Amino acid sequence: IQENYQALSKWVAYYIAQKINRFNPTPDKPYVLGLPTGSSPLGTYQELIQLYKQGKVSFENVITFNMDEYVGLPEDHPQSYHYFMWHNFFSHIDIKKENVHILDGNAPDLEKECEAYEEKIKEVGGIHLFLGGIGPDGHIAFNEPGSSLTSRTRIKTLTYDTRLANSRFFNNDINQVPKTALTVGVGTIMDAREVVIIISGYNKARALQKVVEEGVNHMWTVSMLQLHRKAMIVCDDESTMEL
Ligand code: GLP
Repeated sequence: IQENYQALSKWVAYYIAQKINRFNPTPDKPYVLGLPTGSSPLGTYQELIQLYKQGKVSFENVITFNMDEYVGLPEDHPQSYHYFMWHNFFSHIDIKKENVHILDGNAPDLEKECEAYEEKIKEVGGIHLFLGGIGPDGHIAFNEPGSSLTSRTRIKTLTYDTRLANSRFFNNDINQVPKTALTVGVGTIMDAREVVIIISGYNKARALQKVVEEGVNHMWTVSMLQLHRKAMIVCDDESTMEL
């Protein structure tokens, strides 16, 4: 538990940088990161960019896989997760374009796209650290309430609550929020060697309480991490008010 969002972001950024540095990645032995979008990781990305600029971490031999992407939004749409990641993180660091993987929500065959994504993760030997945020309803990536806790990368219909929460990025107009997305599954995240979840703010307090103090439940999909060997929630004071 960190005092506030800024402290949380610093903590997570240092943690990730330290993991990469200790691993000492090379082209033959890259470090593989799973990454989220949303407002929760923004501070962490900003801190990681600072650490990179100070020469304290390099992403030259880091491979990334993003969690999810909307279906049907053009890649250059300001709310697409492609745009988000390049704009807020990748274009400010030394990552190689070919090492970045983001699901293509405009692929002609979406099911094939999802299967190929799982294959690519396997090919590089799996994910070392999956960073994530959560929705106010306890969803991880776009694994909405009711998702199978062993799910793999697939197409998911977004719930009304998620579309409403995300409409703040779409001119507050829920009709502009896509109805479907591609997302890694809960099972995909569980396969990562380590998972770090960022939870910040009052509006996540109920979810944090459900996810850590109640049982594993597919209605609060992050709760599955209770069964992970190495999962950690890094949260701020505000989000702990229901604990
Ligand atoms: C979306 C994303 C999730 C993210 C959630 C919360 O639903 N698919 O990965 O965790 O939003 O976003 P925020 O951090 O902006 O609250």
